[in-house]
Amino acid sequence: MAFLADALSRIKPSATIAVTQMARELKAQGKDVISLSVGEPDFDTPQNIKDAAVAAIARGETKYTPVAGIPELRKAIADKFKRENGLDYKPEQVIVGTGGKQILFNAFMATINPGDEVVIPAPFWVSYPEMIALCGGTPVFVETTIENNFKLTAEQLDKAITPKTKWFMFNSPSNPSGAAYSKEELKALTDVLMKHPHVWVLTDDMYEHLVFGDFVYYTPAQVEPALYDRTLTMNGVSKAYAMTGWRIGYAAGPLPLIKAMDMIQGQQTSGACSVAQWAAVEALNGPQDFITESKKAFEERRDLVVSMLNQASGLVCPKPEGAFYVYPSCAALIGKTAPSGKVIASDEDFVMELLATEGVATVHGSSFGLGPNFRVSYATSNAKLEEACSRIQRFCASLK
Ligand SMILES: Cc1ncc(COP(=O)(O)O)c(C=O)c1O
Repeated sequence: MAFLADALSRIKPSATIAVTQMARELKAQGKDVISLSVGEPDFDTPQNIKDAAVAAIARGETKYTPVAGIPELRKAIADKFKRENGLDYKPEQVIVGTGGKQILFNAFMATINPGDEVVIPAPFWVSYPEMIALCGGTPVFVETTIENNFKLTAEQLDKAITPKTKWFMFNSPSNPSGAAYSKEELKALTDVLMKHPHVWVLTDDMYEHLVFGDFVYYTPAQVEPALYDRTLTMNGVSKAYAMTGWRIGYAAGPLPLIKAMDMIQGQQTSGACSVAQWAAVEALNGPQDFITESKKAFEERRDLVVSMLNQASGLVCPKPEGAFYVYPSCAALIGKTAPSGKVIASDEDFVMELLATEGVATVHGSSFGLGPNFRVSYATSNAKLEEACSRIQRFCASLK
């Protein structure tokens, strides 16, 4: 009898964690490494949010909370959905979890039966397929193209749906491509979903606030209100308020689904950290200046990185609408040889050789389901980004 569960054989460790770990090791050996592989803002959590947490501790908010979250936070979330997305959710339709990640996991756990399919546009955030596989479901990948700026078309979605499809997993702006769907692009997808009433939408809106220029953000149930009864709208404070370590994510949706997720959470964590929940109340209800400021900084960085990467020989880097990632193609460099003699046979080779020779850590596209590309996270200072992009340019020029 095997000791470890069979389910483990269906999943693999996070590639982003593996690269970050290797960069850490190189740094420990004294190498000058610039990490463009992390998925979190480099800014500190705003002071008003930290103060709210300290005040919560001082008040003794240190005990178990209701499983689905403190009433104040569920109300703040319902208000946020109304204010920012025009969506009407009652506080009891809201659940708070330990990060957006746990919310997603519990949603799959609560709904997936063996053989159920989940349609996922590629490139995708690495955790979706693994969570689905752990829950016994089947991820169905649909590859987008660089020509369409990594966005799924209505025809592609329609073709991917089968009688076994339970969820359409949607993520805009996307990790890893930064692509965000306009209202019209999203409407084309929701029109397809209207033809398939058995399919639910799980929308991961984690990067909602990081959209640039005159781009206007929309979430599926807002664009197609008729989808409200089969949409789980997920979001969180991690990226918008630089609160990745506080571990607060949330979702709103039809009551029976929220109740099912609540039941799972009750046997699993008993709910999210009390102090972090009070911090999240302040994040959502307090001043929102931080969002405007960080957005401005990220937009500048995006422009810098896109421009410099497009000047690297052999790279093609589309300019995405949001998040803090770009997803350049290194297709023209596959088959070339590095000065070390190493032949670059894949995007993984490209990323590893770049890290080994120039000390720039990125993540290979094949781990996000679409290559040959690599993901660059620009959540770091302009000075570091300039230096890193110069090194990438030098590396690309060195491949013969
Ligand atoms: C697309 C996407 N969804 C969800 C998450 C998870 O967020 P959290 O840190 O709140 O668990 C991340 C984090 O990297 C993400 O990139």
